[in-house]
Parts: sequence; structure tokens; C-alpha cells
Amino acid sequence: MTPRLDRLRRDLGALIGPWLDRRSPPAAPRDGAAWPAPRPTRGLSARPLQVEAVDRLTPDAVAVTLTDPTGAPIPFRPGQFLSLSVTVGGQRLRRAYSLCSDPADPRRVQIAVKRVAGGRVSNHLNDRLRPGDTLEVFGPSGDYAARLAGARRLALISGGSGITPHLSILRAALADPLGPQVTLIYGNRDRGAVMFRDALDALVARSGGRLVVRHVLDDAEGPLTPETLAAVLDELDLTDDAGLRWLVCGPAPMMDGALGLLAARGVDPRRVDAERFTPAPTLDTLPDEPQPLQVRAGGSVWTARVTPGQTLLEAGVEAGAPMPFSCAVGGCGACKVRLRGGEVVLRTPNCLSAEERGEGWVLACVAHAASPVRLELDR
Ligand SMILES: Cc1cc2nc3c(=O)[nH]c(=O)nc-3n(C[C@H](O)[C@H](O)[C@H](O)COP(=O)(O)OP(=O)(O)OC[C@H]3O[C@@H](n4cnc5c(N)ncnc54)[C@H](O)[C@@H]3O)c2cc1C
Ligand code: FES
Repeated sequence: MTPRLDRLRRDLGALIGPWLDRRSPPAAPRDGAAWPAPRPTRGLSARPLQVEAVDRLTPDAVAVTLTDPTGAPIPFRPGQFLSLSVTVGGQRLRRAYSLCSDPADPRRVQIAVKRVAGGRVSNHLNDRLRPGDTLEVFGPSGDYAARLAGARRLALISGGSGITPHLSILRAALADPLGPQVTLIYGNRDRGAVMFRDALDALVARSGGRLVVRHVLDDAEGPLTPETLAAVLDELDLTDDAGLRWLVCGPAPMMDGALGLLAARGVDPRRVDAERFTPAPTLDTLPDEPQPLQVRAGGSVWTARVTPGQTLLEAGVEAGAPMPFSCAVGGCGACKVRLRGGEVVLRTPNCLSAEERGEGWVLACVAHAASPVRLELDR
């Protein structure tokens, strides 16, 4: 197949794959649903992308448009994210940002970054990023929204920056004439905090009734609690059926409330997907002793000391080991490594299946050492 045809096939695949149930394995945290196996990610390497534009969406959020300087496309599936490697204050940090642009246009992709109070990367990108800058980018990765086959309706429940994956999902849905009907429920502090307000209005206007957007503003109705959400679902007459898929992304309390409400209403958890931007809660029983760590890869060995609270990924990276990773919150499978010795405890939820655990795999980004640990990076 010629490179052009191959590219076209990949781009089309990225766009329509989710509706055809052509899924690839890596998973985002998906509460209550079966966890698919992470795909091997040894080939995960960074590529430089150029910042084409930085557009202010709200006082606390920017949209960043990225292109490949070689002109190569950046194909992605709706709901996937990029991991940016950014130097802030002399420290190299990696953070995930969901793609929010139309997957049908892989030559120019967009992410949006909302400030987190005291956050190093989000504030750096909001204050310092300029058109013409180059960013080191991993991915796209993630499998949020990969199981939309057969969906006749989508209900997207978003809070704040949790709009980003839902934007690419709804854009792909609307681009498909046979795609599902979409309802977006979007919670924000006030009108001024709504990211992509104009873009959403334009999408609704062009959708011919296929997209309904219901904003929920804290200063008008209160935060998007289970009670408020229940009232909004009733108002929209959004009743559950086998053709409806629920997707939830936003701040942890909002997500927990929404997922609890759906469970209480008897929604089949296999039709509910959730994308978490923050790590799984800290374990009550985190190991409290420092432990030695040994990492082997390609005939070399790195040694480190894992301090209480530190993950194997953090300790390995600190020691200079070539640890693979992307989301760093247990959702993508990129950091899957072989446990060759020792005991670890894993934060949950995460995307490792029970079968993989049984085979000796661990996710380094959510793993803590409960004894001296040996890891093998070669697969
Ligand atoms: C798969 C995935 C997709 C993501 N997509 C987006 C996106 O599209 N847009 C976006 O703005 N962010 C997104 N995030 C979150 C993003 O990766 C960073 O976590 C966020 O920008 C904060 O990083 P920071 O360096 O500014 O904060 P840090 O310096 O890491 O943290 C500062 C403090 O803020 C807390 N904190 C960290 N992240 C959050 C958060 N998201 N909400 C509340 N408190 C937090 C930390 O616990 C810490 O106390 C995504 C995360 C994941 C895992
Ligand atoms: S699961 Fe994504 S980096 Fe660990």
C-alpha cells in the first residue's frame, strides 16, 4: 500500500473506528466496565509538534493548536489524549491533555489546558506558551469512547476541562450522517468559565437538532451534584435504554456523583465510560518503608530507592531508567512492566486486567513497593 493510501486508511480508521467497534486495546479508567488489555507500548516515543496558535478560551484556559513541522498528519481517535513533556523550573514534567479538535482533520490538532490552582504545567502553558514554540509530545493514546458501536444516542456529562475529550467525540459523531444523537450536559462555575462556548453554540446550530447542549452553572443552579443532574436528566427526558452510551469526564467529585446517580438509576455499567484527569485516590495502606528498586532494560541495570508514597515510575525516572509512560494515572497501559521480583500494591481503578496481574505485569505509575522490587522493561 502506498504511504498516501496508508495514511488515508489510518485517518479514516481513526474517524469511524469507534462507531464500527474497531477498538485498540489501551484503556482509560472505566468505572464499572470490563477493563480491556493495555496494548504494548514499547514503541512509544516523543515527536516534536509546533504550536500554531494559542487562543484564550477563558481567563483560566487556553486552546493550543499543534501541527507536525514535517507536515505529517497526527491521526487520533475521538476521546484520545496527547502527553506533553514540558520543562518547568528546570524540571521535566509530563502531563496528558485530551484532543478536542475534529479527528477528521489530523493535520492540525487541538488541546485545551485549564489552570489548576498551584499547578506547574497548566499555569506554565497558560502563561508562557507562544505560537512557534515546539512541544515534545507522546501519543495519541487512550481508549476512552472506543466502544461506541451500536450507540444510537450519546449522553456526555462534562465538568470544566472535562469538555475536551467530549468535544472530539461529539465532533466525530456529528460528522457521521448515521452517527448518534448527542446530549451534552456541561457544568461550570459561571458563564465566563465555559470553555468553547461559541464553538458549542455553532455546533448546535449546524447539527440539525442532533446535538443538545444543556449548561449547568454553579451561580445559577448550583454545582452539578447528583440532585442537580437528576433534575436535568428528567428535564431533558433523557431516559436510559440499550442504545444509549454515557460518558463522564470532569472534576472527581462531579464524576463520582454522576456515576453514583447512573448506578442508582440502574444504568448498565457496560454502557458507562469515565475518563479521570486526576490519579486514583491514595491507598489507605500505602507501604510506609523505603524499598530498593532495580530496573533492567536492554542489558543495563538502574537502581533506586522508592520512598513511601512514591510510585515505581517516579523512582525509576528519577534514577534515569527509560521507563515508558504516558497518562501517569493508571489509565492508558503505557507504563506496563514485568515484575521480576518483590511485592507491589497498585492503586485502583487502573486499566490492568486481573489476567495481566496474574501474568506478572504491573503498571509502574500506580505501583508502590511493599518489599525490594525488580522490574524488567524488555517485553
Ligand atoms: C488522560 C488525561 C487527560 C487530561 N486532559 C486534560 C485536558 O484536556 N485539559 C486539562 O486542562 N487537563 C487535562 N488533564 C489534566 C492534566 O494532565 C494535568 O493533571 C493538569 O493540567 C494539572 O497539571 P499541573 O502540572 O498544572 O498540576 P500539578 O503541579 O501536577 O498539581 C498541582 C496540584 O493540583 C492537583 N491537580 C492536578 N491535576 C488536577 C486536576 N486535573 N484537577 C484538579 N486538581 C488537580 C494536584 O493533586 C496538586 O495538588 C488530563 C489528565 C489525564 C490523565
Ligand atoms: S497507565 Fe498510563 S502511564 Fe501508567
